[in-house]
Amino acid sequence: MNDFAELRWDGRTVSLPLIEGSAHEKAIDISRLRDQTGLITLDSGYSNTGSCESAITFIDGEKGILRYRGIPIEELAEQSSFVETAYLIIYGKLPTRGEFQHFGDLLTAHELIHEDMKFHFEGFPPNAHPMAMLSSMINSAGCYYPELLAPQESQDFVNETAFILSQVRTIAAFAYRKSRGLPIIYPKPEYSYSANFLHMMFSRPNADIALKPEVVRALDLILLLHADHEQNCSTSTVRMVASSKANLFASVASGVCALWGPLHGGANQAVIEMLEQIHRDGDDGSRFVAAAKDKKSGRRLMGFGHRVYKNYDPRAKIIKRQCDELLAVLNISDPLLDIALRLEQAALNDPYFIERKLYPNVDFYSGIIMRAIGLPLEMFTVIFAIGRMPGWIANYLEVSQKEGGRICRPRQIYVGEPLAPYIPLEQRG
Ligand code: CMC
Repeated sequence: MNDFAELRWDGRTVSLPLIEGSAHEKAIDISRLRDQTGLITLDSGYSNTGSCESAITFIDGEKGILRYRGIPIEELAEQSSFVETAYLIIYGKLPTRGEFQHFGDLLTAHELIHEDMKFHFEGFPPNAHPMAMLSSMINSAGCYYPELLAPQESQDFVNETAFILSQVRTIAAFAYRKSRGLPIIYPKPEYSYSANFLHMMFSRPNADIALKPEVVRALDLILLLHADHEQNCSTSTVRMVASSKANLFASVASGVCALWGPLHGGANQAVIEMLEQIHRDGDDGSRFVAAAKDKKSGRRLMGFGHRVYKNYDPRAKIIKRQCDELLAVLNISDPLLDIALRLEQAALNDPYFIERKLYPNVDFYSGIIMRAIGLPLEMFTVIFAIGRMPGWIANYLEVSQKEGGRICRPRQIYVGEPLAPYIPLEQRG
């Protein structure tokens, strides 16, 4: 293979270096293009732009492959836990027994938020969305621990990482309790990560919830499956903020905001809202599918399609299986699941979706599991945020530890008024 590509225009030729990744994907390095030619590239939505080199997650969207640090998602889903996978994603290797124990101990040590932070929750209106609380409270948490805001002094980041991973779970549960006017439930050191979250969500001050292992496992799996997904909107946001040398708390809090939108993490909430609407309307799904194909309707089949996967999302396969198993164990029959199955079949056989390679994504079935667990709709995207935290942290570290890393600063093609005079106020109509 040539190690450069040639660009010809206007009678000139420039050579651009080719880059090859460890899985043999290829890219043209255009970082010096403007210096050489005065040209920039335009790629709105960045669908064809590699923004970085990263060693964390590999996706082959055509083949439906997802690997964290080289390990297939199917193997991790089968054999690992969220906390172990988080360690893998952040530190690049599976922990030894001792490292795993130490990491778990740190998660426990950091599980309580600063007592004064409870007053911050009081400032939110009763119906504030927990995603709003989550992003601001993560940012606030850093203010209480200034020593964690200067992590470049630390060698391994294990303390900072465990702190954020542990606190995000407590903050999320407290945000929910606050939004429902419920008393706060403190975490218990003897519980696992996911069990503790469910305990803080659903126990009462005078009675602990009886935790079913299948439910704890289902939540843990959802978190694990969301743990990273290379350069998606929120992770790219985290990297962008990190590139300005902002601290870890500010960077991951910005990831929460980016995740909130319905085209990204907010899709899991939007899927259930869509299924509920179809149910309410007595639609068998065909009317909604027809509307989703009509651009003028402004509707999309939520939980379908993906920028990278042009094949079945491997996470959706795992989640669908988990969904069937959990509903059977809990003896739940959910009419929304029946609608989802009908929608999936309708879409998978429809030329519109086939031609555009639109398949169910991770959000299509995760909401049904979260409903079965008893998680309220407004918490769905929060669960996604807790799950994605390891990916955001790992990407933050990759940016902040890269020697000679530069601030992210894309260019633009200006299409506004070329030059306009200032007109004093009294002369304007
Ligand atoms: N329903 C109907 N049509 C769709 C859908 C959909 N869900 N998704 C894409 N299309 C159409 C789109 O209208 C376009 O058609 P045409 O070529 O005729 O203009 C074509 O498919 C390509 O779509 P696109 O908008 O260019 O694709 P994208 O890569 O920019 O967007 C997406 C990806 C995930 C935002 C989009 O598929 C979508 O809006 N899906 C629904 C929301 C969703 O489920 N989001 C969760 C994504 S997975 C988890 C995560 O990353 O957070």
